[in-house]
Amino acid sequence: MKSNLRLGVNIDHVATLRQARGASYPDIMQAALACERAGAAGITVHLREDRRHIQDDDVIRLRAGIATRLNLEMANAPDILALALKLRPHEVCLVPERREELTTEGGLDAVGQGKALAPMIRALQDVGSEVSLFIDPEPHQVEAAAALGATHIELHTGVYSRAAGTAAEAELARLVAAARQAQAAGLVVNAGHGLTLDNVAPICRIAGLHTLNIGHSIVSHAIFVGLETATRAMLDAIAVACKLPPL
Ligand code: PXP
Repeated sequence: MKSNLRLGVNIDHVATLRQARGASYPDIMQAALACERAGAAGITVHLREDRRHIQDDDVIRLRAGIATRLNLEMANAPDILALALKLRPHEVCLVPERREELTTEGGLDAVGQGKALAPMIRALQDVGSEVSLFIDPEPHQVEAAAALGATHIELHTGVYSRAAGTAAEAELARLVAAARQAQAAGLVVNAGHGLTLDNVAPICRIAGLHTLNIGHSIVSHAIFVGLETATRAMLDAIAVACKLPPL
């Protein structure tokens, strides 16, 4: 089943498994190719400053070896920026990073960090990478992302994914409003973080979303069914949800 809403599969946690033993397997390229065979529109990896999962060499191999688009998530770190400028990923998603966090816990402060972000955005765009800012669904962050010249944003769905009942509904409303605001400003709007087969449907109904970047739940499901089947299951869930009335 296909829909217009694209899926980027984040394969960081394939590397987590490898790094847990310092082994050479599971192979990151094999993982990316399985996602592509299933119909993923792109492969996403986060090269963290502490290199806890994805390594520089993974990004180099993926850039050369995948047939779809590479989306590199990265923080403002000089060595990682240098690698990105050399590799020119199709897309770079700028994220905040704290060493002690388990995962990217909040969105980028596009308002407060504007001075540091502006030259990075320009440098990456100059080598041909599309630049996306991973932000919380807050009006002033959307405004700042557009003012900084980013062409894409990725809305952080982490709060939504952990909420239930009326809190989840309220966060969904914030995501819908932020997406509308960003689209009116001419930005391409992606979303991701914490999305699963159980919570993805309402996010798919946000009108005009471009790509969902999903990792942990797909790789977890893959333990039981394989990565190709797990990717296909998420694509099917997205396609079904996209038939529902938009929000
Ligand atoms: N998008 C961004 C910007 C992220 O940092 C992450 C996690 O690395 C994801 C999407 C994927 O989140 P998850 O692994 O929870 O699906």
